[in-house]
Amino acid sequence: MSAEEQVEFSQLPPKVAVDRAASVLDYWRARERQHVRDWYAGLRIKKFPEDLRVYEHVLWLSRAQVVVELGTHLGGAALWFRDRLRTQATYGRVPDAVRVISVDLEQDRAADLLAGVDPDFSRDIALIAGDVKDPVVADRVAEHIPAGARCLVVEDTLHQYDTTIAALHNFARFVPDGGFFVVEDGIVDDPHLRPPGMQGGVLPAVADWLTTAEGRAFRTRRDLELYGITNHPHGWLQRAESPD
Ligand SMILES: C[S@@+](CC[C@H](N)C(=O)[O-])C[C@H]1O[C@@H](n2cnc3c(N)ncnc32)[C@H](O)[C@@H]1O
Repeated sequence: MSAEEQVEFSQLPPKVAVDRAASVLDYWRARERQHVRDWYAGLRIKKFPEDLRVYEHVLWLSRAQVVVELGTHLGGAALWFRDRLRTQATYGRVPDAVRVISVDLEQDRAADLLAGVDPDFSRDIALIAGDVKDPVVADRVAEHIPAGARCLVVEDTLHQYDTTIAALHNFARFVPDGGFFVVEDGIVDDPHLRPPGMQGGVLPAVADWLTTAEGRAFRTRRDLELYGITNHPHGWLQRAESPD
């Protein structure tokens, strides 16, 4: 095997090895361990393939032109979202001016990695360094959204109560009528699935926020947990269509 081929194979996630007699819960836990070691186009991405498929359906059906991602990590998901949006534009589903705006506490590493895959990434991926709890960061995100663009927001930061409720409060305004806000990793509040070291707080934050004046405009779409296992139970939130 050439050195080039070895590099490619080192960018596969570890195989999920479960006994056929194992429970669904055991399988789900094995998938949970695997998903933090997956790749897209040579960059780390932390999502179940099933959840990526749901995003494809939702991006297409909601005609999203912009994704606001909260929690960039190493940039793989930002690139994946950008590439899906580009595909939608290719089919005429959305205007050509697609954009991903991705927020994290610091962005130097993601910027270097993204530039290594696509030297022109900044044409349609904006990396913003800041804390999702800071309302000023949402104002900075707003500056990158083309006028009238339909936007999907993804919260994937610390998966605790305070970051989740702040993200909902600060960023839900970007979701248009009929559009989506996705709160990822609600499994941290499932005692059977909670990864080690996670304290939880995501689902209580979502539940509390949905009772607020801004949250009452949204409803939970559990029917979008299409593939049986997901990292985002209770996480697909849709803003109601306007009556006119
Ligand atoms: C789970 S990773 C994101 C993974 C990425 N979205 C993906 O799917 O590959 C979570 C990221 O959230 C960032 N983060 C944690 N707390 C944050 C906060 N208060 N504001 C902004 N980013 C935060 C962390 O630095 C980390 O890079």
